[in-house]
Amino acid sequence: MGRDEKMARTGDFALFVASRFIEPVERAFSEAFVTRFAESRDPIAELREAAGDFAGIAFSLDVPMRRPVIESLPASVRVLATYSVGTDHIDLEAARERGLAVFNTPGVLADSVAENAIFLMLGAARRATEAIELLRQRAWHGWHPGQLVGRQMSGSTLGILGMGDIGRRIAARARSFGMQIHYCNRRPLPPELAQGAEYHPSIETLVAEVDFLVLACPATDATRGIVNADLLARARPELVLVNIARGDLVVDRALIDALQSGRIQAAGLDVFAGEPAVHPDYFDLKNVFMLPHVGSATVEARLGMGRILIDAIQHWRRGEPVTNRVC
Ligand code: GLV
Repeated sequence: MGRDEKMARTGDFALFVASRFIEPVERAFSEAFVTRFAESRDPIAELREAAGDFAGIAFSLDVPMRRPVIESLPASVRVLATYSVGTDHIDLEAARERGLAVFNTPGVLADSVAENAIFLMLGAARRATEAIELLRQRAWHGWHPGQLVGRQMSGSTLGILGMGDIGRRIAARARSFGMQIHYCNRRPLPPELAQGAEYHPSIETLVAEVDFLVLACPATDATRGIVNADLLARARPELVLVNIARGDLVVDRALIDALQSGRIQAAGLDVFAGEPAVHPDYFDLKNVFMLPHVGSATVEARLGMGRILIDAIQHWRRGEPVTNRVC
């Protein structure tokens, strides 16, 4: 298809694609819009230098949109489409001041992230790090009843910090394991959403009640560092802490001390403060099961994330309401 023909079909919306996506998503972007894919390691500099009036940018967590970046964007840019549900890599205030429309990808990745939370709970509780190492180092010398004894989820209590869409999908899965659900939110949920889960107005009371605690809330000024030494001092020694949200919810030193000393039992971590850097002490802890931020890394979620951003831009261009508009 020639550029003119494509312009006519897409109504001339030029999208600068600043991150790399899976091939079907990149294809879908280029079928829906006039696209240019970043080729360098500095996509924003490339965008500034590129000829072409780009109206939108598709990007993800690897391209932070802080205030200086937003203020330096070409005047033609009117849309930021982030391929993520989290928006803490975007200065939303600066985006609002520039009158940018910001779209994200809620809902479509929630099942994938909820499944990952269960994976982390199981991995941490069943001592997956030790088990995998034992086998891979060819050090398994035979079954015995005392080997790698972990904890089961059935009959345990689960606390969820942040009972939004993802939190509720984790709760639904955990119920099928026979877990009792507790949660902490700014406000209690209506009964049809709570489904019998017990509300705690503060994380301090929540942590004291539960065997598993899953962090499923956004990183904000109110939640950064919420898992700290004071909080961990209130936890049961059986606690398995799981973080599928953002690394900076946790004070690493405090968690590492609690895991080293046996103050809590184990942790399952998908996200890290300052990632891809990971606090080096985690690597020495057998009771940590770690993944490199793969919560939404399933084909189903990735395709849905592309689709919902394309739909959002198209609805926005027609002046229609967009449910996944952040600002
Ligand atoms: C991933 O962490 C996301 O925010 O989508």
